[in-house]
Amino acid sequence: MGSGMLGSVKDRERCTGRIRRAPESFLSAEDIAAVASGRRDVLRRGFMAALGLGAASAATVARADDPDIVDPVPWSTTLGLPVAATPYGMPSRYERNLVRRQSPGLTQVGAASVAFTPLQGSFGIVTPSGLHFERHHQGWTDIDPRRHRFMVNGSSPGMVARPMVFTMDDLMRLPSVSRMHFLECGANTGMEWGNVAVPTVQYTHGMISCSEFTGVELRLLLEMCRADLSRGRFVLAEGADGSSMTRTIPMDLVMSGEVLVAWGQNGEMLRPENGYPLRLVVPGVQGVSWVKWLRRVELGDQPWGAKDESIHYVDLMPDGQHRQYTSIQEVKSVITTPSGGQALVGKGFHAISGLAWSGRGAVQRVDVSVDGGRNWRPATLQQPVMSKCLSRFVFPWTWNGERAILQSRAIDDTGHVQPTYRQLREVRGTRSIYHNNAIQSWLVEPGGEVSNVQTA
Ligand code: MTE
Repeated sequence: MGSGMLGSVKDRERCTGRIRRAPESFLSAEDIAAVASGRRDVLRRGFMAALGLGAASAATVARADDPDIVDPVPWSTTLGLPVAATPYGMPSRYERNLVRRQSPGLTQVGAASVAFTPLQGSFGIVTPSGLHFERHHQGWTDIDPRRHRFMVNGSSPGMVARPMVFTMDDLMRLPSVSRMHFLECGANTGMEWGNVAVPTVQYTHGMISCSEFTGVELRLLLEMCRADLSRGRFVLAEGADGSSMTRTIPMDLVMSGEVLVAWGQNGEMLRPENGYPLRLVVPGVQGVSWVKWLRRVELGDQPWGAKDESIHYVDLMPDGQHRQYTSIQEVKSVITTPSGGQALVGKGFHAISGLAWSGRGAVQRVDVSVDGGRNWRPATLQQPVMSKCLSRFVFPWTWNGERAILQSRAIDDTGHVQPTYRQLREVRGTRSIYHNNAIQSWLVEPGGEVSNVQTA
Protein backbone atom coordinates (compact mmCIF):
# COMPACT_ATOMS: atom_id res chain seq x y z
CA MET A 1 0.00 0.00 0.00
CA GLY A 2 1.56 3.29 -1.02
CA SER A 3 1.00 6.78 0.27
CA GLY A 4 -1.13 7.52 -2.81
CA MET A 5 -3.75 5.21 -1.42
CA LEU A 6 -3.66 7.00 1.93
CA GLY A 7 -4.36 10.27 0.21
CA SER A 8 -7.24 8.79 -1.66
CA VAL A 9 -8.79 7.30 1.47
CA LYS A 10 -8.66 10.66 3.22
CA ASP A 11 -9.99 12.41 0.13
CA ARG A 12 -12.86 10.04 -0.15
CA GLU A 13 -13.68 10.52 3.51
CA ARG A 14 -13.44 14.29 3.30
CA CYS A 15 -15.05 14.82 -0.09
CA THR A 16 -17.75 12.23 -0.22
CA GLY A 17 -17.96 10.86 3.31
CA ARG A 18 -18.18 7.41 1.75
CA ILE A 19 -16.22 5.57 4.37
CA ARG A 20 -18.70 4.67 7.06
CA ARG A 21 -17.82 3.24 10.45
CA ALA A 22 -19.69 1.09 12.92
CA PRO A 23 -20.98 3.12 15.86
CA GLU A 24 -19.04 2.92 19.08
CA SER A 25 -22.21 2.56 21.11
CA PHE A 26 -21.54 -1.16 21.07
CA LEU A 27 -18.63 -0.56 23.44
CA SER A 28 -19.16 -0.06 27.18
CA ALA A 29 -19.36 3.51 28.55
CA GLU A 30 -15.81 3.11 29.92
CA ASP A 31 -14.51 1.92 26.56
CA ILE A 32 -16.21 4.77 24.68
CA ALA A 33 -14.62 7.31 27.02
CA ALA A 34 -11.23 5.66 26.58
CA VAL A 35 -11.54 5.54 22.79
CA ALA A 36 -12.60 9.21 22.77
CA SER A 37 -9.56 10.17 24.85
CA GLY A 38 -7.31 8.21 22.50
CA ARG A 39 -6.34 5.40 24.89
CA ARG A 40 -5.42 2.58 22.58
CA ASP A 41 -4.83 -0.03 25.26
CA VAL A 42 -8.59 -0.48 25.42
CA LEU A 43 -8.60 -1.75 21.88
CA ARG A 44 -5.52 -3.89 22.51
CA ARG A 45 -7.28 -5.42 25.47
CA GLY A 46 -10.27 -5.93 23.25
CA PHE A 47 -8.06 -7.85 20.84
CA MET A 48 -6.67 -10.14 23.52
CA ALA A 49 -10.14 -10.61 24.97
CA ALA A 50 -11.42 -11.50 21.53
CA LEU A 51 -8.86 -14.26 21.41
CA GLY A 52 -10.10 -15.47 24.76
CA LEU A 53 -7.24 -14.23 26.91
CA GLY A 54 -9.31 -12.15 29.32
CA ALA A 55 -10.08 -8.47 29.39
CA ALA A 56 -7.12 -7.59 31.59
CA SER A 57 -4.53 -9.27 29.32
CA ALA A 58 -2.08 -7.29 27.23
CA ALA A 59 0.06 -8.54 24.36
CA THR A 60 2.85 -10.75 25.74
CA VAL A 61 6.42 -10.14 24.59
CA ALA A 62 9.27 -12.39 25.83
CA ARG A 63 12.38 -10.55 27.16
CA ALA A 64 15.83 -11.85 28.10
CA ASP A 65 15.18 -11.47 31.86
CA ASP A 66 11.70 -12.89 31.54
CA PRO A 67 10.88 -14.75 34.81
CA ASP A 68 8.74 -17.14 32.79
CA ILE A 69 11.98 -18.33 31.15
CA VAL A 70 14.38 -17.99 34.08
CA ASP A 71 12.28 -19.15 37.08
CA PRO A 72 10.47 -22.45 37.57
CA VAL A 73 6.81 -22.10 36.66
CA PRO A 74 4.19 -23.62 39.01
CA TRP A 75 2.84 -26.09 36.46
CA SER A 76 6.27 -27.71 36.10
CA THR A 77 6.84 -28.16 39.82
CA THR A 78 3.53 -29.49 41.11
CA LEU A 79 1.30 -32.50 40.53
CA GLY A 80 -1.27 -32.12 37.80
CA LEU A 81 -4.97 -32.75 38.17
CA PRO A 82 -6.20 -36.36 37.94
CA VAL A 83 -7.77 -37.83 34.80
CA ALA A 84 -11.52 -37.30 34.50
CA ALA A 85 -11.38 -34.27 36.82
CA THR A 86 -13.73 -32.88 34.18
CA PRO A 87 -15.52 -35.95 32.71
CA TYR A 88 -16.66 -33.86 29.73
CA GLY A 89 -13.63 -31.77 28.71
CA MET A 90 -13.92 -27.99 28.84
CA PRO A 91 -11.78 -25.22 27.27
CA SER A 92 -9.01 -23.67 29.39
CA ARG A 93 -10.24 -21.02 31.82
CA TYR A 94 -7.98 -18.59 29.94
CA GLU A 95 -10.28 -18.97 26.94
CA ARG A 96 -13.44 -18.01 28.79
CA ASN A 97 -14.04 -14.86 26.74
CA LEU A 98 -14.31 -16.84 23.56
CA VAL A 99 -18.03 -17.50 23.72
CA ARG A 100 -21.21 -17.08 21.72
CA ARG A 101 -22.65 -13.63 22.29
CA GLN A 102 -25.93 -11.87 21.62
CA SER A 103 -25.56 -8.67 19.62
CA PRO A 104 -26.28 -5.52 21.61
CA GLY A 105 -27.60 -4.13 18.33
CA LEU A 106 -30.52 -6.55 18.09
CA THR A 107 -33.78 -6.40 19.99
CA GLN A 108 -34.30 -9.61 21.95
CA VAL A 109 -37.87 -10.88 21.71
CA GLY A 110 -38.38 -13.36 24.54
CA ALA A 111 -36.67 -16.64 23.72
CA ALA A 112 -36.70 -15.83 19.98
CA SER A 113 -33.11 -14.85 19.62
CA VAL A 114 -29.63 -15.36 18.17
CA ALA A 115 -26.17 -15.84 19.67
CA PHE A 116 -23.22 -15.35 17.31
CA THR A 117 -20.09 -17.52 16.79
CA PRO A 118 -16.80 -15.77 17.75
CA LEU A 119 -15.19 -16.06 14.31
CA GLN A 120 -12.35 -13.74 15.40
CA GLY A 121 -10.93 -16.50 17.60
CA SER A 122 -11.48 -19.46 15.27
CA PHE A 123 -8.80 -21.54 13.55
CA GLY A 124 -9.19 -23.86 10.57
CA ILE A 125 -12.73 -24.57 9.41
CA VAL A 126 -14.45 -26.54 12.20
CA THR A 127 -16.67 -24.73 14.68
CA PRO A 128 -16.55 -26.40 18.11
CA SER A 129 -20.10 -27.51 18.90
CA GLY A 130 -20.23 -25.29 21.98
CA LEU A 131 -19.50 -22.24 19.81
CA HIS A 132 -21.91 -23.07 16.95
CA PHE A 133 -24.19 -20.05 16.55
CA GLU A 134 -27.76 -20.47 17.80
CA ARG A 135 -30.88 -19.06 16.22
CA HIS A 136 -34.26 -19.92 17.70
CA HIS A 137 -37.67 -18.57 16.77
CA GLN A 138 -39.15 -19.68 20.08
CA GLY A 139 -36.27 -20.73 22.34
CA TRP A 140 -34.50 -24.09 22.38
CA THR A 141 -36.04 -27.19 23.70
CA ASP A 142 -34.74 -30.21 25.64
CA ILE A 143 -36.22 -33.29 23.98
CA ASP A 144 -36.09 -36.78 25.53
CA PRO A 145 -34.73 -38.87 22.61
CA ARG A 146 -36.66 -41.95 23.79
CA ARG A 147 -39.90 -40.03 23.24
CA HIS A 148 -38.96 -38.31 20.00
CA ARG A 149 -40.85 -39.49 16.91
CA PHE A 150 -40.22 -38.68 13.25
CA MET A 151 -42.99 -39.10 10.69
CA VAL A 152 -42.90 -39.33 6.88
CA ASN A 153 -46.26 -38.82 5.14
CA GLY A 154 -47.79 -37.47 1.92
CA SER A 155 -49.95 -34.39 1.29
CA SER A 156 -52.53 -36.34 -0.70
CA PRO A 157 -53.67 -39.99 -0.97
CA GLY A 158 -51.07 -42.17 -2.68
CA MET A 159 -48.26 -39.60 -2.48
CA VAL A 160 -46.61 -41.81 0.15
CA ALA A 161 -47.89 -45.37 -0.06
CA ARG A 162 -46.57 -46.45 3.36
CA PRO A 163 -46.42 -43.48 5.79
CA MET A 164 -44.10 -44.34 8.68
CA VAL A 165 -43.19 -43.11 12.14
CA PHE A 166 -39.55 -43.67 13.20
CA THR A 167 -38.04 -43.67 16.69
CA MET A 168 -34.42 -42.56 17.15
CA ASP A 169 -33.44 -46.25 17.40
CA ASP A 170 -35.18 -46.97 14.08
CA LEU A 171 -33.25 -44.17 12.39
CA MET A 172 -29.84 -44.78 13.92
CA ARG A 173 -29.69 -48.41 12.73
CA LEU A 174 -29.92 -47.25 9.10
CA PRO A 175 -26.83 -46.63 6.92
CA SER A 176 -25.50 -43.17 7.79
CA VAL A 177 -23.06 -40.73 6.19
CA SER A 178 -20.89 -37.98 7.75
CA ARG A 179 -20.23 -34.78 5.82
CA MET A 180 -18.68 -31.38 6.56
CA HIS A 181 -20.91 -28.41 5.74
CA PHE A 182 -21.34 -24.79 6.70
CA LEU A 183 -24.64 -23.60 8.13
CA GLU A 184 -25.34 -19.89 7.56
CA CYS A 185 -28.45 -18.00 8.58
CA GLY A 186 -29.98 -16.10 5.66
CA ALA A 187 -29.89 -13.02 7.92
CA ASN A 188 -26.12 -13.23 8.47
CA THR A 189 -24.57 -9.78 7.84
CA GLY A 190 -28.14 -8.46 7.66
CA MET A 191 -27.43 -5.49 9.91
CA GLU A 192 -24.93 -4.15 7.34
CA TRP A 193 -27.44 -3.68 4.50
CA GLY A 194 -28.19 -0.02 5.09
CA ASN A 195 -24.88 0.98 6.62
CA VAL A 196 -22.11 -0.36 8.83
CA ALA A 197 -23.88 -1.43 11.97
CA VAL A 198 -21.69 -3.44 14.32
CA PRO A 199 -17.99 -3.34 15.19
CA THR A 200 -16.74 -6.94 15.22
CA VAL A 201 -16.74 -9.95 12.89
CA GLN A 202 -18.61 -11.89 15.58
CA TYR A 203 -21.64 -9.69 14.91
CA THR A 204 -21.15 -8.94 11.20
CA HIS A 205 -20.63 -12.58 10.15
CA GLY A 206 -21.08 -14.80 13.24
CA MET A 207 -24.29 -16.45 12.05
CA ILE A 208 -22.17 -19.00 10.20
CA SER A 209 -20.64 -22.16 11.64
CA CYS A 210 -19.24 -25.36 10.15
CA SER A 211 -19.55 -28.92 11.45
CA GLU A 212 -19.36 -32.54 10.45
CA PHE A 213 -22.96 -33.76 10.39
CA THR A 214 -23.96 -37.43 10.60
CA GLY A 215 -27.31 -38.81 9.53
CA VAL A 216 -29.32 -40.76 7.00
CA GLU A 217 -30.13 -39.48 3.52
CA LEU A 218 -33.74 -38.26 3.38
CA ARG A 219 -34.24 -39.89 -0.04
CA LEU A 220 -33.61 -43.31 1.58
CA LEU A 221 -36.40 -42.67 4.11
CA LEU A 222 -38.76 -41.57 1.31
CA GLU A 223 -37.94 -44.75 -0.61
CA MET A 224 -38.60 -46.86 2.51
CA CYS A 225 -42.03 -45.19 2.74
CA ARG A 226 -42.68 -45.95 -0.94
CA ALA A 227 -43.01 -42.27 -1.81
CA ASP A 228 -44.25 -41.43 -5.32
CA LEU A 229 -41.07 -39.79 -6.57
CA SER A 230 -42.56 -39.02 -9.98
CA ARG A 231 -45.32 -36.84 -8.44
CA GLY A 232 -43.57 -35.45 -5.37
CA ARG A 233 -41.85 -32.15 -6.19
CA PHE A 234 -41.29 -30.69 -2.71
CA VAL A 235 -41.06 -31.80 0.90
CA LEU A 236 -42.25 -29.85 3.91
CA ALA A 237 -40.01 -30.17 6.99
CA GLU A 238 -41.57 -29.50 10.40
CA GLY A 239 -39.95 -28.89 13.79
CA ALA A 240 -41.24 -30.03 17.19
CA ASP A 241 -40.59 -26.73 19.03
CA GLY A 242 -43.17 -24.07 19.79
CA SER A 243 -42.26 -21.94 16.76
CA SER A 244 -44.23 -24.08 14.25
CA MET A 245 -41.20 -23.94 12.00
CA THR A 246 -42.03 -25.40 8.58
CA ARG A 247 -40.02 -25.02 5.38
CA THR A 248 -40.47 -26.18 1.79
CA ILE A 249 -37.47 -28.03 0.28
CA PRO A 250 -37.33 -28.79 -3.46
CA MET A 251 -37.09 -32.50 -4.33
CA ASP A 252 -34.08 -32.06 -6.63
CA LEU A 253 -32.01 -31.24 -3.52
CA VAL A 254 -33.45 -34.26 -1.72
CA MET A 255 -32.83 -36.60 -4.66
CA SER A 256 -29.22 -35.41 -4.99
CA GLY A 257 -28.67 -37.30 -1.70
CA GLU A 258 -27.30 -34.20 0.02
CA VAL A 259 -30.25 -33.62 2.36
CA LEU A 260 -29.75 -35.52 5.62
CA VAL A 261 -31.92 -36.34 8.61
CA ALA A 262 -29.07 -35.90 11.06
CA TRP A 263 -28.40 -36.74 14.71
CA GLY A 264 -24.59 -36.28 14.80
CA GLN A 265 -22.52 -33.10 14.97
CA ASN A 266 -18.72 -33.17 15.23
CA GLY A 267 -18.61 -36.81 16.30
CA GLU A 268 -21.24 -36.64 19.06
CA MET A 269 -24.99 -36.16 19.24
CA LEU A 270 -26.34 -32.75 18.20
CA ARG A 271 -26.34 -30.20 21.00
CA PRO A 272 -29.88 -29.35 22.28
CA GLU A 273 -29.51 -25.78 20.98
CA ASN A 274 -28.75 -27.16 17.52
CA GLY A 275 -31.72 -29.52 17.28
CA TYR A 276 -31.07 -32.57 19.51
CA PRO A 277 -31.94 -35.27 18.77
CA LEU A 278 -32.76 -34.69 15.07
CA ARG A 279 -32.39 -31.93 12.50
CA LEU A 280 -32.50 -31.49 8.75
CA VAL A 281 -29.20 -30.76 6.97
CA VAL A 282 -29.70 -28.91 3.66
CA PRO A 283 -26.18 -28.09 2.40
CA GLY A 284 -25.73 -24.70 0.73
CA VAL A 285 -29.22 -23.53 1.68
CA GLN A 286 -29.99 -20.81 4.25
CA GLY A 287 -30.14 -21.94 7.88
CA VAL A 288 -33.89 -21.57 8.34
CA SER A 289 -34.41 -24.65 6.12
CA TRP A 290 -32.20 -26.73 8.44
CA VAL A 291 -35.23 -27.49 10.60
CA LYS A 292 -34.25 -28.41 14.17
CA TRP A 293 -36.01 -30.87 16.48
CA LEU A 294 -37.30 -32.37 13.22
CA ARG A 295 -40.53 -34.34 13.70
CA ARG A 296 -42.14 -34.64 10.27
CA VAL A 297 -41.48 -34.57 6.54
CA GLU A 298 -44.42 -34.40 4.14
CA LEU A 299 -44.15 -35.03 0.39
CA GLY A 300 -46.23 -32.77 -1.87
CA ASP A 301 -46.46 -31.40 -5.39
CA GLN A 302 -46.34 -27.66 -4.64
CA PRO A 303 -44.63 -25.28 -2.19
CA TRP A 304 -46.49 -24.72 1.09
CA GLY A 305 -45.98 -20.94 1.38
CA ALA A 306 -45.56 -21.31 5.16
CA LYS A 307 -45.24 -18.23 7.38
CA ASP A 308 -41.45 -18.54 7.46
CA GLU A 309 -41.33 -18.45 3.66
CA SER A 310 -44.03 -15.83 2.98
CA ILE A 311 -43.51 -13.08 5.53
CA HIS A 312 -39.99 -13.91 6.73
CA TYR A 313 -36.88 -14.86 4.74
CA VAL A 314 -38.08 -12.92 1.68
CA ASP A 315 -36.00 -10.19 0.05
CA LEU A 316 -37.52 -6.71 -0.31
CA MET A 317 -36.37 -5.44 -3.72
CA PRO A 318 -35.95 -1.76 -4.69
CA ASP A 319 -39.25 -1.79 -6.66
CA GLY A 320 -41.18 -2.89 -3.55
CA GLN A 321 -41.61 -6.51 -4.68
CA HIS A 322 -40.62 -9.43 -2.48
CA ARG A 323 -38.30 -12.15 -3.73
CA GLN A 324 -39.37 -15.52 -2.30
CA TYR A 325 -37.56 -18.87 -1.98
CA THR A 326 -34.10 -17.37 -2.53
CA SER A 327 -32.54 -20.09 -0.48
CA ILE A 328 -28.98 -20.62 -1.79
CA GLN A 329 -26.28 -18.91 0.27
CA GLU A 330 -24.21 -17.19 -2.41
CA VAL A 331 -20.40 -17.06 -2.52
CA LYS A 332 -18.97 -15.04 0.37
CA SER A 333 -15.83 -14.50 2.44
CA VAL A 334 -14.56 -12.46 5.37
CA ILE A 335 -11.19 -11.72 6.94
CA THR A 336 -11.39 -12.89 10.55
CA THR A 337 -7.84 -11.87 11.61
CA PRO A 338 -7.26 -8.99 11.82
CA SER A 339 -10.86 -7.81 12.12
CA GLY A 340 -12.97 -5.13 13.80
CA GLY A 341 -12.23 -4.47 17.46
CA GLN A 342 -8.76 -6.01 17.27
CA ALA A 343 -5.48 -4.06 17.08
CA LEU A 344 -2.19 -4.88 15.38
CA VAL A 345 0.60 -4.77 17.94
CA GLY A 346 3.30 -3.42 15.62
CA LYS A 347 4.51 -2.91 12.07
CA GLY A 348 5.92 -5.82 10.13
CA PHE A 349 4.63 -9.27 9.29
CA HIS A 350 1.01 -10.20 9.97
CA ALA A 351 -0.72 -13.27 8.59
CA ILE A 352 -4.13 -12.22 7.29
CA SER A 353 -6.56 -15.10 7.67
CA GLY A 354 -10.22 -15.63 6.92
CA LEU A 355 -13.07 -17.87 5.82
CA ALA A 356 -14.75 -18.35 2.44
CA TRP A 357 -17.77 -20.41 1.38
CA SER A 358 -20.41 -20.90 -1.32
CA GLY A 359 -23.81 -22.56 -1.25
CA ARG A 360 -23.31 -23.52 -4.91
CA GLY A 361 -20.19 -25.65 -4.50
CA ALA A 362 -16.53 -25.31 -3.57
CA VAL A 363 -14.51 -22.12 -3.20
CA GLN A 364 -12.14 -21.87 -6.13
CA ARG A 365 -10.15 -18.75 -5.28
CA VAL A 366 -9.94 -15.95 -2.73
CA ASP A 367 -8.25 -12.63 -3.54
CA VAL A 368 -7.13 -10.19 -0.86
CA SER A 369 -6.72 -6.43 -1.11
CA VAL A 370 -4.93 -4.25 1.46
CA ASP A 371 -5.75 -0.98 -0.33
CA GLY A 372 -9.53 -0.92 -0.30
CA GLY A 373 -10.04 -2.92 -3.49
CA ARG A 374 -7.63 -1.22 -5.91
CA ASN A 375 -5.22 -4.10 -6.15
CA TRP A 376 -5.95 -7.76 -5.53
CA ARG A 377 -3.60 -10.70 -4.99
CA PRO A 378 -4.55 -14.36 -4.59
CA ALA A 379 -4.60 -15.82 -1.08
CA THR A 380 -3.60 -19.41 -0.32
CA LEU A 381 -6.51 -21.79 0.29
CA GLN A 382 -5.71 -24.26 3.04
CA GLN A 383 -6.70 -27.89 2.51
CA PRO A 384 -9.20 -29.43 2.64
CA VAL A 385 -11.40 -27.42 0.30
CA MET A 386 -14.84 -29.04 0.19
CA SER A 387 -18.19 -28.35 -1.43
CA LYS A 388 -20.66 -26.26 0.61
CA CYS A 389 -18.15 -26.12 3.44
CA LEU A 390 -16.04 -23.37 4.99
CA SER A 391 -12.56 -22.92 3.48
CA ARG A 392 -9.73 -21.18 5.32
CA PHE A 393 -7.54 -18.71 3.38
CA VAL A 394 -4.29 -17.12 4.46
CA PHE A 395 -2.39 -14.18 3.02
CA PRO A 396 1.06 -12.94 4.12
CA TRP A 397 1.16 -9.19 4.75
CA THR A 398 3.94 -6.88 5.84
CA TRP A 399 2.30 -3.84 7.38
CA ASN A 400 4.19 -0.55 6.96
CA GLY A 401 2.29 1.13 9.79
CA GLU A 402 0.10 3.25 7.48
CA ARG A 403 -3.66 3.20 7.05
CA ALA A 404 -4.89 0.19 5.14
CA ILE A 405 -8.26 -1.22 4.14
CA LEU A 406 -8.34 -5.01 4.15
CA GLN A 407 -10.82 -6.89 1.96
CA SER A 408 -11.33 -10.43 0.67
CA ARG A 409 -13.23 -11.53 -2.44
CA ALA A 410 -14.22 -15.16 -3.04
CA ILE A 411 -14.96 -16.90 -6.34
CA ASP A 412 -16.65 -20.31 -6.41
CA ASP A 413 -16.31 -23.21 -8.83
CA THR A 414 -19.48 -22.18 -10.68
CA GLY A 415 -17.80 -18.85 -11.54
CA HIS A 416 -19.85 -16.70 -9.12
CA VAL A 417 -17.85 -13.76 -7.74
CA GLN A 418 -18.53 -12.09 -4.37
CA PRO A 419 -19.90 -8.57 -5.12
CA THR A 420 -18.95 -5.18 -3.71
CA TYR A 421 -21.60 -3.28 -1.71
CA ARG A 422 -22.12 -1.00 -4.68
CA GLN A 423 -22.79 -3.94 -7.04
CA LEU A 424 -25.10 -5.65 -4.56
CA ARG A 425 -27.10 -2.51 -3.76
CA GLU A 426 -27.52 -1.69 -7.47
CA VAL A 427 -29.60 -4.85 -7.80
CA ARG A 428 -31.02 -5.36 -4.31
CA GLY A 429 -31.35 -1.84 -2.86
CA THR A 430 -30.77 -1.20 0.84
CA ARG A 431 -33.96 -2.43 2.50
CA SER A 432 -33.26 -6.15 2.61
CA ILE A 433 -32.44 -8.14 5.71
CA TYR A 434 -31.39 -11.40 4.12
CA HIS A 435 -28.70 -12.68 1.75
CA ASN A 436 -26.00 -10.05 2.05
CA ASN A 437 -22.81 -11.54 0.60
CA ALA A 438 -20.95 -8.27 -0.08
CA ILE A 439 -17.21 -7.78 0.35
CA GLN A 440 -16.35 -6.77 3.93
CA SER A 441 -13.85 -3.96 4.63
CA TRP A 442 -11.72 -3.56 7.76
CA LEU A 443 -9.87 -0.26 8.24
CA VAL A 444 -6.44 -0.48 9.94
CA GLU A 445 -5.43 2.84 11.55
CA PRO A 446 -1.75 3.85 11.91
CA GLY A 447 -2.08 3.04 15.64
CA GLY A 448 -3.07 -0.51 14.72
CA GLU A 449 -6.79 -0.32 15.61
CA VAL A 450 -9.06 -2.21 13.23
CA SER A 451 -12.65 -1.12 12.61
CA ASN A 452 -15.64 -1.96 10.43
CA VAL A 453 -16.05 0.43 7.48
CA GLN A 454 -17.83 0.51 4.15
CA THR A 455 -15.95 2.10 1.29
CA ALA A 456 -18.68 2.55 -1.32
N1 MTE B 1 -35.84 -25.10 13.43
C1 MTE B 1 -36.78 -24.98 14.38
N2 MTE B 1 -37.58 -26.04 14.63
N3 MTE B 1 -36.97 -23.83 15.07
C2 MTE B 1 -36.18 -22.73 14.82
O1 MTE B 1 -36.36 -21.69 15.48
N4 MTE B 1 -34.37 -21.77 13.45
C3 MTE B 1 -33.87 -21.83 12.09
C4 MTE B 1 -33.23 -23.18 11.79
N5 MTE B 1 -34.07 -24.24 12.21
C5 MTE B 1 -35.19 -22.82 13.82
C6 MTE B 1 -35.03 -24.07 13.16
C7 MTE B 1 -32.92 -20.80 11.75
S1 MTE B 1 -33.58 -19.28 11.37
C8 MTE B 1 -31.59 -21.05 11.60
S2 MTE B 1 -30.53 -19.86 11.01
C9 MTE B 1 -31.00 -22.32 11.98
O2 MTE B 1 -31.97 -23.23 12.48
C10 MTE B 1 -29.96 -22.11 13.04
O3 MTE B 1 -29.42 -23.32 13.44
P1 MTE B 1 -28.51 -23.37 14.73
O4 MTE B 1 -29.27 -22.75 15.87
O5 MTE B 1 -28.16 -24.80 14.94
O6 MTE B 1 -27.29 -22.55 14.40
